Amino acid sequence: MIAIYPGSFDPITLGHLDIIQRGCRLFGGVVVAVLRNPHKTPMFTVEERVAQIQKATQHLSGVEVDSFDGLTVSYTRLRQANAILRGLRVLSDFEMELQMAHTNKTLAEEVETIFLATSNEYSFLSSSVVKEIARFGGSIDHLVPAPVALDVYHRCCAKTLPDSI
Ligand code: PNS
Repeated sequence: MIAIYPGSFDPITLGHLDIIQRGCRLFGGVVVAVLRNPHKTPMFTVEERVAQIQKATQHLSGVEVDSFDGLTVSYTRLRQANAILRGLRVLSDFEMELQMAHTNKTLAEEVETIFLATSNEYSFLSSSVVKEIARFGGSIDHLVPAPVALDVYHRCCAKTLPDSI
């Protein structure tokens, strides 16, 4: 079974990577799908995010990285997949994720949403947290893959690089 792991990934974090790695053990393949969202102003273009994820997952077999427009269920059907993979960090994620899963079910009955509980050490971690820390000059080396940390430092805080750089 192929699972679609959709998201913004602006940028990919170690929490996302943890879900991808564990998803690979459960599914025959995982397609990491970056949403082209015209309503958000991202730090990285979709192409940059796809390249970052490809680099971060190159050691994993069975991972494909792609981008998509529109509804996640439409993309899931396009890829002839029937599972959507999502990570759950904390209780507050659950409400929105459950609503999304129920909405998707009304749109595509054959598509199941599978939740993985985020590993404990990443339960606080989000792409927004990463960007906020970096913008204020903090280190994000322990939060994202090394090449992504460099990209973030260069993109958002060239004047305030942390001592570790
Ligand atoms: O990383 P994110 O921002 O939490 O990912 C959210 C995402 C991309 C999974 C979600 O916004 C999504 O599926 N968007 C595509 C539009 C869609 O299918 N909407 C219906 C479900 S509410």
